[in-house]
Amino acid sequence: MDLRCLLCCRVALLLLSMPCGLYCMSVHILNEGPMYVIPGSPLILEARIEQGPLEEISVVTWEREPESGVAPGRETLATCPGKGSECAGTSPNVSGNMQHQVATLRIHRYKSPDSGVYAVTVTDHRGVKTTAHCIIRMYEAVHHVSVSINISHSSLICGESWGTDPHFNWLHEKIAITQSVGTVSKDGSTLVVTMKPFCGHFTCVVSNKLGYSSASFTAAPCETEGRGTTVAVVCLVLLLMLVGGVLAFLLWRRHRHNSRGQWLHEHLDDTI
Ligand SMILES: *[C@@H]1O[C@H](CO)[C@@H](O)[C@H](O)[C@H]1NC(C)=O
Repeated sequence: MDLRCLLCCRVALLLLSMPCGLYCMSVHILNEGPMYVIPGSPLILEARIEQGPLEEISVVTWEREPESGVAPGRETLATCPGKGSECAGTSPNVSGNMQHQVATLRIHRYKSPDSGVYAVTVTDHRGVKTTAHCIIRMYEAVHHVSVSINISHSSLICGESWGTDPHFNWLHEKIAITQSVGTVSKDGSTLVVTMKPFCGHFTCVVSNKLGYSSASFTAAPCETEGRGTTVAVVCLVLLLMLVGGVLAFLLWRRHRHNSRGQWLHEHLDDTI
């Protein structure tokens, strides 16, 4: 094997080991989509650009279009020259930069209309474009929590309308559910009630980063020991009051009788 061939092989190996050949460009957005952003907080998107050794970036553009709907409103957010680090944002709320093959887009205060499909497009010196996309949605608060019952399966189902990333929590008589009450499904939305009888107050609390909301289901009241004691105490108090009343009445009557007798006695004494 002569030296030239060895060199050849090396170059070939080098080219094969590169993610793309001499003339190819790839771009991907580092944030895993869809991404949910809380209104008022910043949105930061990063895209990594891989390029062949002979490739030159001429321009990087960030654009956005609605995720659905008929209006095809594609909007340019920022344009970054291939060389140089700062990008030109199209509004004061947007900025961007390029550093070490990473393009960053920053929306300083995210608002609902900022939701959509974001696209980063890299154009090389020959005008060839490569694009990557990422879906951005608004992080929504928990809405309209409700609890329904599936009688045939002794289960309660907690529903929530459109909150982002809802977490379900169940309470029975304001206490977290234990094995003696029932079991909660993996996603938390269903409670299979195993307690007999099926009674008391059930509450489903749904929460996410923006707060929580709850709904309840009320079955027949539970005849617990505590309740029995309360009833017994109330009965005892009533009984005591009754006995006290009767005693008081008897004493009053006796007293009146006595004083009347005395009066009669005195009266009679006077007339005689
Ligand atoms: C009750 O739950 C079972 C099991 O999840 C389901 O197959 C059934 O359709 C439910 N019944 C009602 C009325 O929703």
